Amino acid sequence: MRLGGPARYVIEIEKPDDIPKAYNFAHKNNLPVFILGYGANTIGHDEGFEGVIIINRMCGIELLSEGVAALEGDPKMFCEAKILGREKSRQDPLHIKIMGGEYWDNVVAFACERGLTGIEALSKIPGLAGAAPVQNIGAYGQEIADTLVEIEVYDTATNTFKTLQKSDLHFSYRKSLLNTTEKGRYFVISITLALKKGQMPRPFYNSIERYIAENNCTDFTPQGIREIVSKIRADKLPDPLTTPSAGSFFKNIYLNDEEARLAEQKGYPVYRGHDGNKINSGWLIEQAGFKGALLHGIRVNDKAALVLINESAKSYQDLASARSEIVNKVYDKFGYRLEQEPEEITT
Ligand code: EPU
Repeated sequence: MRLGGPARYVIEIEKPDDIPKAYNFAHKNNLPVFILGYGANTIGHDEGFEGVIIINRMCGIELLSEGVAALEGDPKMFCEAKILGREKSRQDPLHIKIMGGEYWDNVVAFACERGLTGIEALSKIPGLAGAAPVQNIGAYGQEIADTLVEIEVYDTATNTFKTLQKSDLHFSYRKSLLNTTEKGRYFVISITLALKKGQMPRPFYNSIERYIAENNCTDFTPQGIREIVSKIRADKLPDPLTTPSAGSFFKNIYLNDEEARLAEQKGYPVYRGHDGNKINSGWLIEQAGFKGALLHGIRVNDKAALVLINESAKSYQDLASARSEIVNKVYDKFGYRLEQEPEEITT
C-alpha cells in the first residue's frame, strides 16, 4: 500500500544457516522479528518497526522423484526427470519443491509450461512461494492447500529445522497454523507441491466460465487457463508494482447453513461452493455505495470493490479511517463485520 515507516533492521536470508543467525541477533538485542515475503499483502504502521524484518532470498524450483510418469509423452519433462536420475512410475502426481524466496508466479509458469495442473488458477498472485501456505492463497476455485504436500521450516521455538506435513498446517479459507495459532513461530524454507499432468475439472469458477463464453476460448490446458486468469485479473485488479494496493482488502463472509438461509431470506446473494456458503464482500461494499469512492486518499476500486488502492493517502491512519468507514457502514446496513485480509507489520 506504500504506507508505513522504516524498519530498524532488515536481514536477507541466502542460505538456511543464516536463519538461526538472524534469530540469534534479534534475541540478543531483545528485538521482535517479522518475516516479510514480497510485501504485496502486508501493511506497515506509521511509526515503523523497531525490530528485525527477515526476508527469504532462497530461490529455486526442483522436480522431485514421485510420479515422473505423469510426464509420459512429454519429452521436455521426461528429459528433466532423466537428468534428475528418477524412475518412471505411472500413477503418482509429480512433486515439485520450491524455495520460499521464489516468486510465486514463476512457480505457476513452471508448472503450466510443463502441462501440470493444480495451481494454474493461482496465476499472477503477487508474492513469494514461502508466503503461499501462510495465508493459503486462493483464487478461481483453487487454493494452495489442494496441492501442498509438506513444507520445510525453521522452528524458532525449538531452534531446529523441521518438515511439517499438510495435515499439520490446519488449512482453511485464508488461514493456516502459520498465521493463527503458531503465527511467527516458523520460518518457511521451502514448499513441496503435488501436481498432475492434465486439466482442471469443469465447470470452472464462474468468472472463468463467463470469460470463456464471451471470448470463445478453447484452450483449457494449464497454460490456457493461466492465460485466461491472467486476463481476468489484469482487467480487474491493479498491478501492485505500479498501483499501491494489497489486492482484496477484506475477506469474503463465510456463513453456516442457518446464517446462509437467513441471508437468502433477506435477498442477499449467497454462493454455495465446496468450501462453504459465502457472501462476496465486494458485493456488500458495492451495495453500501462505496464502489469507486475516494475516502481519505484511499480509492475503492471501481471494478472490484474488495480492492483498495492508495491514491493519495499520507499515512496508515488515513487507511485506518477509510477502513472504519467501510466496515461500519457495511455492518450497519447488513450486520456483517468485514475482516481485513492483508497482514500488518506489528510486534
Ligand atoms: N462482486 C460484486 N461487486 C464487486 C466485486 C464482486 O458484486 O465489486 C461479486 C460479483 O457477484 C462477483 C463475485 O462478487 O461475481 C465474485 O467476485 P470475484 O470473482 O472478483 O472474487 P472476490 O470474491 O471479490 C476472491 C479473492 C481474490 C481472488 C478472486 C477470484 C478473497 C478475499 N478474494 O475475490 O483474491 O482473486 O476471489 O477467485 O477471497 C486477494 O486475496 O487479494 C485476491 C485478489
